[in-house]
Amino acid sequence: MAYFFSEPSRTFSEYLLVPGYSSAECIPANVSLKTPVVKYRRGEEPALTMNVPMVSAVMQAVSGEQMGIALAKEGGIAFIYVSQPIEQQAEMVRKVKNYKAGFVISDSNLRLGDTLADVLALKERTGHSTMAVTDDGTGTGRLLGLVTSRDYRVSRMDPSTPVSQFMTPAEKIVSAPEGTSLKAANDIIWDHKLNALPIVSDDGHLVSFVFRKDYDSHKGNPLELLDSQKRYVVGAGINSRDYEDRVPALVEAGADVLVIDSSEGYSEWQKRTLAWIRSRYGDTVKVGAGNVVDGEGFRFLADCGADFVKVGIGGGSICITRETKGIGRGQATAVIDVAAERDKYFEETGVYVPICADGGIVQDYHITLALAMGADFCMLGRYFSRFDESPTSKVLIGGSYMKEYWGEGSARARNWQRYDLGGAAKLSFEEGVDSYVPYAGKLSDGMATTLAKVRSTMCNCGALTIPELREKAKLTLVSSVSIVEGGAHDVLLKDTTAGGNQRS
Ligand code: XMP
Repeated sequence: MAYFFSEPSRTFSEYLLVPGYSSAECIPANVSLKTPVVKYRRGEEPALTMNVPMVSAVMQAVSGEQMGIALAKEGGIAFIYVSQPIEQQAEMVRKVKNYKAGFVISDSNLRLGDTLADVLALKERTGHSTMAVTDDGTGTGRLLGLVTSRDYRVSRMDPSTPVSQFMTPAEKIVSAPEGTSLKAANDIIWDHKLNALPIVSDDGHLVSFVFRKDYDSHKGNPLELLDSQKRYVVGAGINSRDYEDRVPALVEAGADVLVIDSSEGYSEWQKRTLAWIRSRYGDTVKVGAGNVVDGEGFRFLADCGADFVKVGIGGGSICITRETKGIGRGQATAVIDVAAERDKYFEETGVYVPICADGGIVQDYHITLALAMGADFCMLGRYFSRFDESPTSKVLIGGSYMKEYWGEGSARARNWQRYDLGGAAKLSFEEGVDSYVPYAGKLSDGMATTLAKVRSTMCNCGALTIPELREKAKLTLVSSVSIVEGGAHDVLLKDTTAGGNQRS
């Protein structure tokens, strides 16, 4: 007979935290958000921890190399998306690993045949006024020239004027060779009164830029996540189809942690993928698995050797899995259930397998709730897609800036492997949508606000660490009327312009 769970499954918005006693030491500045990413034995230290409990989703619209760099700078990990050719994904990983603070890989690039109209469109899209002209139009092509706003006058020039007619050609550009230190690069910038200094390889290829305006901001971030060689830590998605080729390429590129990206992870396919990785690399390659929504699924993946387990089916903002297939579970209930099994597993085996709450984080306080319910860290898609550092275009819609955000199960992403159950190698129906999200500026600013809220709530609960929060948290269910009471009510709001009274 079918099994019935006795309680309805619930979402984060159905819960609140009830404050506990806060001591005088319990202030946001003393809160540590350090958290384990991979499994460890009782009494041992995990091989990989994060300084903030946030990772970015394995999605085309979220996690490219810019996200990898920006998130590691803030203490978290980006999982570079898997739904792309292996070499392209490995290249993104390499770019994060090779990144040096202060040296920026150019993402506003032109070809010789491009026109002034293309320059203006690129500027509108990226907001950057320094553009590289390279032979292949990429940030690592052979450098042919530079275009800055000093090179053209829109009012006096035809939009069809080719870039070649007004760019500053390579032979007139002050550049520096690969290997130049940040200090030396800044000296050149000051000596030549430059705004940007291109770093160029021996064979004339653009490597990166050093910008004058960035100098002061590169004092280092106290939370940044670095490996033993002081390179940024980065993750990457894999699937259970081409892992025999993809995993070696990502490992060789320097990925610190992998995750099997699948909408439903309680399967033979994940078991085989994990077994292959363990047989080839032992425990040296760290790999998470998922997604599951109950204790049974967790135990299966933990027994298969997963380094962490991802929790969540159908709760993502762009997900329609529950609607289309009728599978899933309220995200709060799923996290609570899996966390209980994780603790039981730890008791029994002495192995602690971290869990990641994936999807459905809408309000910042949902992160704190997920941690209180037992998640070790959260994976977010919509949240990160809104920032400058996501790989998608910024577009103006109805007077407001938006970023594009689409699901991996949408026809646009064509990521059929994520939904693969070993059958035909194509998507026969969609499990995700294509959408817009409100543009939210720089990731560092957004995360600073979000984490300030998390730290503050933790102090309200009397907790200075994530394990302490879990221990001390008092959670209460809310009724629909008390949700109304929780927002501004029975007053006439003054500022009704976009964002004026929005909370996130
Ligand atoms: P949020 O709510 O942060 O969720 O936007 C991101 C998570 O959603 C999952 N994901 C999908 N689920 N159809 C789905 O059912 C999709 O097209 C899809 N794309 C992403 C994924 O787990 C991600 O981390």
